[in-house]
Amino acid sequence: MTRTERLLIEPLAHDHAVGLVAALADDRVGAFIGGPDVTTVEALHDRIDRIARGPGPDWPTEHWHNWVARRAHDDAIVGRLEATTYGPTREAGEWAEVAYLFGPVFWGQGYAHEGMTWMLDHLHDALGVGEYWAAIHPDNARSIRLVERLGFERRDVPGRPMGSYDEPDLVFVRFAETA
Ligand SMILES: CC(C)(COP(=O)(O)OP(=O)(O)OC[C@H]1O[C@@H](n2cnc3c(N)ncnc32)[C@H](O)[C@@H]1OP(=O)(O)O)[C@@H](O)C(=O)NCCC(=O)NCCS
Repeated sequence: MTRTERLLIEPLAHDHAVGLVAALADDRVGAFIGGPDVTTVEALHDRIDRIARGPGPDWPTEHWHNWVARRAHDDAIVGRLEATTYGPTREAGEWAEVAYLFGPVFWGQGYAHEGMTWMLDHLHDALGVGEYWAAIHPDNARSIRLVERLGFERRDVPGRPMGSYDEPDLVFVRFAETA
């Protein structure tokens, strides 16, 4: 577990399912990502198990990393952070795709920014990643504002084979050296 100014960051686990459903089972969360992120605790348990198994031997250079963000002062789960890193090992990433989902009742307070700042630092410092990509639906204004505040720049096309990219997404990139 890691502490930021206002958040506790924990690796995603079964124990988080009830709090994550409470925070994220809201139509606004799924509006620009192809539908609801989670609907039931059972479905989320299945998803967490699937995530724990990872991408499998057919994708040896792809590695999944998932965390939950809690508000430190009351332990409320506010959202989750995810990154797929690409590199020879889990601890030696070259580039990453990042994503983030926070509960609407917690929007507008900088929690996603704080959590993402931690995740980008962690990807760099602990996992060696220096290049971060995000694919965002053009109408997802909050998400675009977030990545721009984090120092991402818009690109016309994905500069990497991004699994999270779908037409008509916009793509954004940040390089550790320039952030
Ligand atoms: C994308 C998402 C995480 C953005 O959440 P958010 O709360 O707007 O993002 P931030 O944490 O950057 O908060 C920014 C807001 O907090 C305000 N704020 C308040 N205190 C702040 C602080 N200490 N630090 C930074 N911002 C602060 C900012 O002024 C800004 O306000 P604004 O919304 O009026 O511009 C959220 O909308 C979400 O989860 N959406 C659903 C899932 C999704 O679409 N994910 C992205 C897929 S690409």
